[in-house]
Amino acid sequence: MSIVGWFKSKGPSGFGYTSTAEEVTAGLDLAGKKILVTGCNSGLGLEAMRVLALRGATVLGTARTVEKAKAAGEGLKTPIVPLACELSDPASVRACVAEVKRQGHVLDAVICNAGIMALPKRETIHGLELQFFTNHIGHFMLVTGLLDSLAETGRVVMLSSSAHTMAPKVGIAFDDLDASKSYSGWTNYGQSKIANLLFAKELSRRFAGTKKTANAVHPGVIRTNLGRHMNPVMTFVFNVFGGIATKNVHEGAATEVWAATNPSLATVSGEYMADCNLAKCRADANDPAIAKRLWEVSEGIVAKLP
Ligand SMILES: NC(=O)c1ccc[n+]([C@@H]2O[C@H](COP(=O)([O-])OP(=O)(O)OC[C@H]3O[C@@H](n4cnc5c(N)ncnc54)[C@H](OP(=O)(O)O)[C@@H]3O)[C@@H](O)[C@H]2O)c1
Repeated sequence: MSIVGWFKSKGPSGFGYTSTAEEVTAGLDLAGKKILVTGCNSGLGLEAMRVLALRGATVLGTARTVEKAKAAGEGLKTPIVPLACELSDPASVRACVAEVKRQGHVLDAVICNAGIMALPKRETIHGLELQFFTNHIGHFMLVTGLLDSLAETGRVVMLSSSAHTMAPKVGIAFDDLDASKSYSGWTNYGQSKIANLLFAKELSRRFAGTKKTANAVHPGVIRTNLGRHMNPVMTFVFNVFGGIATKNVHEGAATEVWAATNPSLATVSGEYMADCNLAKCRADANDPAIAKRLWEVSEGIVAKLP
């Protein structure tokens, strides 16, 4: 098959690399559905929110500030519920959970989309490496806080990445969560993304016996604001070759939207998905012992946060 043919080919779901969020939701009526999307003001989150609203869903769009969320939701087909959720600030995450509950929302899906990538220098917050805290701990707090607000058939979708394969050999460096022994922007990003995957798998196990599901997705490689922290050489390479080897945001938002809404996935849980199909992840991302330990360590961390 030619390269162009491969890009255009479809997998068993009937969708593929070039499918867009609009295409994977074509014909779906999401009126009455409530879907929370983190990081709704930029890149994939903004496109996911637009398309979900286009199909009639009420999106609870979170951004670092409520003003950013409000601005992002302006002019959409269905009005959004704007919320503040600064993932590196435990008080903000708790306040977001409390506000969702106060407003009495029952959530059909939670899409944990927000994230930061490849910080060139080690940064910490609350004693933990910043990407691990923002991408994993912040979302761990949010999702575990909202479990009671999930609908009977609620879905949790974690934005992981193929970069989870860059995580340390041990999966999660439990003895170095502040990265004081070793730091690399990509390895630590990879660790945060394998954490997103392990969390989805463990949550799926904890959902056993219910109709709730949890899955993780790789959206593809898309030029968004995510690259803003990359060093100048990487940015140059990305900009030169990016047009050829990347998806656009319409394609990039497709897998998360598909995972959150496609009727054929009602009982699919604990999976890793890419290009709107099931995919294979790194072997240790399937290890229930690591996932259980990560859950317990995360609970311990959250219990001590201010
Ligand atoms: N783009 C890719 O190639 C790619 C590949 C694999 C995986 N992913 C994953 O896809 C997801 C979306 O990425 P994207 O490409 O759409 O990136 P993006 O355009 O940079 O959007 C990221 C979003 O996350 C928000 N965010 C960052 N730090 C936050 C914090 N501390 N608290 C709350 N929100 C925060 C950003 O808010 P601000 O705008 O206020 O900073 C923004 O809304 C990420 O989880 C990323 O890891 C992306």
